[in-house]
Amino acid sequence: MAKLVECVPNFSEGRNKEVIDAIAGAISATEGCSLLDVDPGASTNRTVYTFVGPPQAVVEGALNAARAAFAIIDMAKHTGQHPRMGALDVCPFIPVRSATMDDCVACANEFGRRLADMLEVPVYLYGEAAQSENRRSLPTIRAGEYEALPEKLRKSEWAPDFGPATFVASWGATVTGARKFLIAYNVNLLSTKEQAHRIALDIREQGRGKDQPGRFKKVQGIGWYLEESSVAQVSTNILDFELTPLHAVYEEICRDARELNLPVVGSQIVGLIPLKAMLDCADFYVQKEKLFIVEEEHKVRLVISKLGLDSLGPFIPKERIIEYMVEANQDEGRLVSLSLQQFVRSVGARTAAPGGGSVSAAIAAMGAALGCMVGQMTYGKRQFEAVDGIMRRLIPPFHQAMNDLLLIVDADSTAFNSYMAALKMPRSTADDIKRREEAQQEGLKKAVGVPLSLAEKVAALWPVLQDMVRYGNVACKSDAQVAAKALETAVWGAYYNIIINLKDITDQSFKCAMEEKASALLKEARESVAMVLETASQRP
Ligand SMILES: *[C@@H]1O[C@H](CO)[C@@H](O)[C@H](O)[C@H]1NC(C)=O
Repeated sequence: MAKLVECVPNFSEGRNKEVIDAIAGAISATEGCSLLDVDPGASTNRTVYTFVGPPQAVVEGALNAARAAFAIIDMAKHTGQHPRMGALDVCPFIPVRSATMDDCVACANEFGRRLADMLEVPVYLYGEAAQSENRRSLPTIRAGEYEALPEKLRKSEWAPDFGPATFVASWGATVTGARKFLIAYNVNLLSTKEQAHRIALDIREQGRGKDQPGRFKKVQGIGWYLEESSVAQVSTNILDFELTPLHAVYEEICRDARELNLPVVGSQIVGLIPLKAMLDCADFYVQKEKLFIVEEEHKVRLVISKLGLDSLGPFIPKERIIEYMVEANQDEGRLVSLSLQQFVRSVGARTAAPGGGSVSAAIAAMGAALGCMVGQMTYGKRQFEAVDGIMRRLIPPFHQAMNDLLLIVDADSTAFNSYMAALKMPRSTADDIKRREEAQQEGLKKAVGVPLSLAEKVAALWPVLQDMVRYGNVACKSDAQVAAKALETAVWGAYYNIIINLKDITDQSFKCAMEEKASALLKEARESVAMVLETASQRP
């Protein structure tokens, strides 16, 4: 899965629509950036922009936004309720999908360095990107705000991490850094504000003070009363949902409420949430209640229902789950987003990709899908009740493989294209030739790695398919037989794709190791498919 980083720059203008729109425009116009939200505040005179994209793209997006703002924001004229010290006051980078905290620290460093170079302004690093412990917290760096900057910049302990230690009146200073995703999560109670607050004090990390800490790490909380909905809320910020997950907070508040004989009436996520936070929560309930759910859509539904996320208003996954919001953008240009007819025709077209590699992956995905189907056509039927437990075990690996193999359809063509790009690199100097040769070898290794991963994924399915053929609905026997042959064909295709790309690889030990692996996988496929088909033929 491609890395996805969220960037949330806060600019010091929340009233002038032209300025707000110009900054938004600079972000949207940056390739790879999806602008998800623009939230201007009149009294704070500040606008929070939320956008996501691959690491490199969000850095460019933030730089473009800053460049636009530099020309039109004058900090010397700024007033507003929120603490601030710069026209671009703070710009955090946050890992969302596949990206690590290190990736985000790297984003913050690159952004900070290039911003300081571009505008000649002081830049500080905070959060996970901080260079020293006393610069971890944003309020500490921002103490005294814009007005204190001229004096602060003269002190060596406040030397900026990037850029000159000079006061630029129109800009002030910018703080950039990396932090975890924050989930704003509130649980509704039919109670008084005081009762909700009491629970908040018990669960939040800070508790009731130093000698009375609360039960959860990285959770902030207070109780309040929501006039417009006539409910009290334990309002929390979950600062690290992998450490303290959503369901833990919800379940714990429910427990406290039960002890006080107070009814919980649903809960609420304010703003956006990463898909992983939802799926972690779903997995908790699936395990706890021994449920059987494979579809992601159903898992999301389960969470909405378990936590009552639609109690105060609808919870529409496409508008709340970050990955779903960018999906429409990302699907563009992917082979698997084509219709079957378009895909087949693009294989038939006069281009080298998609070719045998992508087709093998597509065939494998269909084989896995057929295995999944046989399971679905068996599970939950009265006549096959005895094998329900077996089906619960056999369906998920097919379902997972089906989705993973679909990703390989595009991965294979991408790897091939990057190899072709290497071939087109210049070769006028000795250096050029060396670089081209390296890129070419790198490309070939990738082009070998993709079909190898395909064959390995299929290898894991043989024992599952064997059981599926033995216990599955016999009316689907032919589907299982097609699944077996499709999976075998895919491994066969992967094998020949590996061999053809190994031909030009100069690293002999890599070559031998790959050849050996590929042959073993092909042999295993041949033997397994024979066994599976034999089992099938013995069923009435
Ligand atoms: C809001 O901030 C801008 C600077 O970006 C400033 O020019 C403007 O006067 C401020 N508005 C108010 C009402 O303070």
